[in-house]
Amino acid sequence: MLTLLTSMYLVMRTVSSRAEPIRVLVTGAAGQIAYSLLYSIAKGDVFGKDQPIILILLDIPPMLPVLDGVVMELQDCALPILKEVIPTDKVEVAFKDIDAAILVGSMPRKEGMERKDLLKANVAIFKTQGAALDKYAKKTVKVVVVGNPANTNCLIASKSAPSIPKENFSCLTRLDHNRACSQVAMRCGVSSDQVKNVIIWGNHSSTQYPDVHHAKVNLQGAETEAYQAIKDDAWLRGDFISTVQQRGAAVIKARKLSSAMSAAKAICDHMRDIWFGTKEGEFVSMGVYASGNSYNIPEDLIYSFPVQIKNKTWKVVDGLPINDFSRAKMDATAAELVEERDTALDFLSQ
Ligand SMILES: NC(=O)c1ccc[n+]([C@@H]2O[C@H](COP(=O)([O-])OP(=O)(O)OC[C@H]3O[C@@H](n4cnc5c(N)ncnc54)[C@H](O)[C@@H]3O)[C@@H](O)[C@H]2O)c1
Ligand SMILES: *[C@@H]1O[C@H](CO)[C@@H](O)[C@H](O)[C@H]1NC(C)=O
Ligand SMILES: *[C@@H]1O[C@H](CO)[C@@H](O)[C@H](O)[C@H]1NC(C)=O
Ligand SMILES: *[C@@H]1O[C@H](CO)[C@@H](O)[C@H](O)[C@H]1NC(C)=O
Repeated sequence: MLTLLTSMYLVMRTVSSRAEPIRVLVTGAAGQIAYSLLYSIAKGDVFGKDQPIILILLDIPPMLPVLDGVVMELQDCALPILKEVIPTDKVEVAFKDIDAAILVGSMPRKEGMERKDLLKANVAIFKTQGAALDKYAKKTVKVVVVGNPANTNCLIASKSAPSIPKENFSCLTRLDHNRACSQVAMRCGVSSDQVKNVIIWGNHSSTQYPDVHHAKVNLQGAETEAYQAIKDDAWLRGDFISTVQQRGAAVIKARKLSSAMSAAKAICDHMRDIWFGTKEGEFVSMGVYASGNSYNIPEDLIYSFPVQIKNKTWKVVDGLPINDFSRAKMDATAAELVEERDTALDFLSQ
């Protein structure tokens, strides 16, 4: 029996190590998040240790020399599953036949730039990239949008790629999710893997609502409600929420640069869960298309929900009881997204 299992395992390993490479695109590839992200992808942390990968790196023309440096370093990592690295500034090269797209690059806010102008510039970028997905990518491509404003950029990309299922687009709120997990874990004196089912609702911004009403903490083997484990409602409804909401700004203030290492780690968590599924009985947060959700969130938004993923298909975890405190916060962040969507859609139709 054991030999049979062992030989089956060996056969499976041989098969998978001969697997066709998948094509993974990272945009903003000369930037700081990508610099932390690419190594993890290329060594198998996201798509599996035996899955050969072709990495495609897209950035804008002035960044091509920097991209060359990144390519050299990836080569110098001597990673067995990394079959090829393709740097480019052309969408028709970048999006060709891709299996996964991690859209990190976006227009950054510049000194004196109006919010509306920033949004307009990003609508233009994500319209182009959405159209390129539509035209060149595999129809099963999984797209994760990271570049801010992530929720709205994701919506624009999806609307510009009508031939790809809306469900295959998501935006990153896993960093906020991980921040919330970690805050709870530190407060309870346990490691972060002992905390599960925190939720980030809404926009990836300071109006996001980090919710631990459904979270569980493993305290010495006993699964305990987070509110019971922490026993400090004032902290949970006050400083905990604002710490998570303001964490990005706090990192910028301290580091003079935005979160990159933790953002890269969150992108890996997010994409790995799409690829391999979430753990039984656990859910994670991601910005997904709000349609037919049971939480009365307006449709036609990319809104962060608790989701479970199986067979590369996510489902919003429906029917969690929502109290008045949570309701107000979920609605506030939705209202912000509705306003941003409407402005963005005006730009899209221009
Ligand atoms: N959703 C999240 O949780 C989260 C977390 C952290 C950062 N972010 C966002 O991620 C983005 C990237 O952050 P970073 O620190 O790596 O920034 P960065 O400025 O270091 O890098 C961004 C890169 O994107 C490139 N770029 C710009 N426009 C592009 C385009 N049209 N096509 C391809 N590449 C393009 C730039 O040239 C640059 O190399 C920012 O928008 C940031 O706000 C999101
Ligand atoms: C939503 O969040 C993004 C990312 O932080 C931010 O850029 C955007 O301004 C927010 N939307 C609104 C309408 O505040
Ligand atoms: C998994 O998804 C694929 C593609 O949508 C589908 O063909 C297949 O039947 C699904 N498998 C299971 C076990 O649900
Ligand atoms: C992406 O689209 C395919 C094909 O329609 C579907 O089977 C799959 O579940 C979608 N993926 C996600 C992550 O929802």
